[in-house]
Amino acid sequence: MRVLGVETSCDETAVAIVEAPADGGPVGSILANVVYSQLVEHRRFGGVVPEIAARAHLERIDGLVIDALAEAGLGLADLDGIAATGGPGLIGGVLVGVMTAKALAFAHDKPFLAVNHLEGHALSVRLTEDVDFPYLLLLVSGGHCQLLTVRGPGDFMRLGTTIDDAVGECFDKTAKLLGLGFPGGPAVEAAAKGGDPQRFALPRPMWRKPGCDFSFSGLKTAVRQTVEKLPAQDAQAVADLCASFQRTVGDVLADRCANALSLAPSSTLVVAGGVAANVYLRGRLETLAAAHGARLVAPPIKLCTDNGAMIAWAGIERLRLGKTDTLDFRPRPRWPLDPSVAVRV
Ligand code: KG4
Ligand code: ZN
Repeated sequence: MRVLGVETSCDETAVAIVEAPADGGPVGSILANVVYSQLVEHRRFGGVVPEIAARAHLERIDGLVIDALAEAGLGLADLDGIAATGGPGLIGGVLVGVMTAKALAFAHDKPFLAVNHLEGHALSVRLTEDVDFPYLLLLVSGGHCQLLTVRGPGDFMRLGTTIDDAVGECFDKTAKLLGLGFPGGPAVEAAAKGGDPQRFALPRPMWRKPGCDFSFSGLKTAVRQTVEKLPAQDAQAVADLCASFQRTVGDVLADRCANALSLAPSSTLVVAGGVAANVYLRGRLETLAAAHGARLVAPPIKLCTDNGAMIAWAGIERLRLGKTDTLDFRPRPRWPLDPSVAVRV
């Protein structure tokens, strides 16, 4: 079974082709994986500009589909389905990806699969690792911070979510305040390498509170206030602040995951989403999981940030279950994984 996946919900234009046994469980092979990151387009604004993102997706998407097919050595006739992120995300970009996938599916008479972007992250670990359902998932990205039990494709139970900002947003804001550039996560991680994680005591919102919810706005404010007091051009102070910030985030994530493992015990803790690319945080979660007799599993670093392979893989998981979509699917700016508790997504 081979599926082409299109991802255009934020600032990466991405197309991939993934292959998996039709009746099998986890682990597929990536036949092609092309990503165009819109760094040049957004850098001077210090963040993603939705309208510019949509136009950039439109300019690149056809070329990337052609590149992916060439990389895989396949034609459209060799595919079993066409998947695209159907939401949640910046709606202009999602429209570009969905319309492209629908057109390909219609013209070549293939099933169309509208994939929830968050489900793409949530299932991505099964593309490369032998992980069975159910598992506990920490989903940490630029727009989301949630703990969920993943029971199967389309079957999620949310244990907690952020009551304000997402953790990736907090990394991006910290980087912006320190003039480290965009995207912020990798820049903060790099700057933290030579820093003292104990130098700055920052607040740990929700730490040691019951439940599995998160909050990051107080930490964001504290970072801003600390930056305002930093001596100018003090590279060591910047490194120390990044290390202290990262340690604080690690404390909070580990504390929330500990609660989740107690409330919904699981032998596997999975971390996914862009922030899961952070090696320090992966280490903290590994230690935490081991202390609870669980193993931590994370996708390869390259597959943590947005990509088409995770969308193609989620498409395969859905296609196996016969969960295809019709061509009147409407792109969704909001699309919660667990609709039963969704006040915010
Ligand atoms: O999953 P993703 O690519 O896009 C969304 O769905 O939001 O996540 C992007 C987020 C950004 O906030 C970025 O700064 C963060 O993931 N990120 C990281 C790292 N790499 C990306 N945060 C911390 N450490 C990293 N190495
Ligand atoms: Zn994402």
